[in-house]
Amino acid sequence: MENKKILVLGGAGYIGAHVVSELLKKQYKVLVYDNMSTGQKENLFDKAEFINADILDVSALEKAMDGVDAVIFFAGKKAVGESMLNPELYARNNLVGAVNVLNTMCAKGIKNIIFSSSAAVYGIPQYVPVDEKHPLNPINFYGFTKLETERLLEWYDKLKGIKYAALRYFNAAGYDPDGRVKGREQNPQNLLPIIAEVADGKRKCLQVFGTDYDTPDGTCLRDYIHVNDLATAHVLALEALLDGHDSMTLNLGTGKGVSVKEIVAAAEKFLGRKLPVEYAPRRPGDPAILYAKADRAKQVLGWQPKFVNVDEVVSSFLKKH
Ligand code: WQD
Repeated sequence: MENKKILVLGGAGYIGAHVVSELLKKQYKVLVYDNMSTGQKENLFDKAEFINADILDVSALEKAMDGVDAVIFFAGKKAVGESMLNPELYARNNLVGAVNVLNTMCAKGIKNIIFSSSAAVYGIPQYVPVDEKHPLNPINFYGFTKLETERLLEWYDKLKGIKYAALRYFNAAGYDPDGRVKGREQNPQNLLPIIAEVADGKRKCLQVFGTDYDTPDGTCLRDYIHVNDLATAHVLALEALLDGHDSMTLNLGTGKGVSVKEIVAAAEKFLGRKLPVEYAPRRPGDPAILYAKADRAKQVLGWQPKFVNVDEVVSSFLKKH
C-alpha cells in the first residue's frame, strides 16, 4: 500500500512508535500527531512528518487530516489508577478526544480507523481465556473510556460508514530488538517498566502485589504481548480496512498466562543477578488470572504473535541500545 498516508495520533508513544516504525518499513507515508504529554522525541522518526498538537484542538486535527487515508488512534491517557482519581481528565482526553477524531474524520471523508483498545473493557474475567464475546464490565474509568469509544465506533460505522478495527491489547511488553524505539516511559505504573527502573537503580525495589492468589505460584497471571507483535497486527488490520474489509474487534494476546514471579525470574536471568523484591499486599482491582483467546485475530488477519517466549519478551524490554 505504498503512498497511502496514515495519520498516527499518539505516534510518539511506546506502542505508537513501534507501529510507526512498522508502517515506515512498509513504505507508508506517516504523519505523527502527538501533544508530547507522554510521547517522547526520541521516539520520532526522520522519515515521518511530525505535528506537535493535541486531539482536543479540532482545527489542528482538521489540518492534519488533509489527504489522509486512515487514522491510527493511540492518543489518550492510560493509567488505570490515575483514571479513578481524575475521571475528568480521562473523560476529556479519551472521550471528547475520540469525538473530535471521529467528527473530523466525517468532515474530511476519512473512512478507516484503527483504535487502540484494551482488555480493560472486560473487567474481572468470568472465564479464561477471554474471548471477544466475554461480557464487557470495565472496573476502572480508563477501561470505561475504552469501551465507550468502541461504542462510538460502532455508531459511526452504522451511521457514517467509518470502518474500524478496535484492537484490545492485553499486557503490552518488550521493545523492538533492533532498538528502533528508544523512549522509556516516565513514572511507569506497569510491571515491566518498573522492573526496568529497579534494574537501573532508579527504584529501590520491586513490590510484588500479592502472593496468595489461586495460581500455581500465588502471583497474578497476565498475557504479555510483545509490542512488535502488536505493531504487525495494526498493519495487518490497516491493510484489511484499506482493502475494504468490514469493521472488526479483536483481542491481541499470546493466549498464555505468565505470572509475576516468572517475569521477575526472567529479568534476573537476563541481568545475571537477583533483583530487590518486596512481597506486598494485593493491589485492589487486580484479577488473579487474565489472558486472551486471540484466535479471531489469527482467523481474520492471519496474525501470529512471534514473541511467545517470556525470556525473549523480558530481555527485549531490559536490553540497552
Ligand atoms: C501486571 C501484574 C500486578 C506492578 C494494566 C491495565 C491494562 C493495560 C496494561 C493499558 C499485576 C503486578 C505490577 C508492580 C506488581 N494498560 N505488579 N508490582 O494491571 O495487568 O494491566 O496495564 O491498556 O489495561 O489494567 O498491568 O503491569 O500494572 O500489572 O506486582 O509494581 O503485575 O499486580 O498482577 P495490569 P500491570
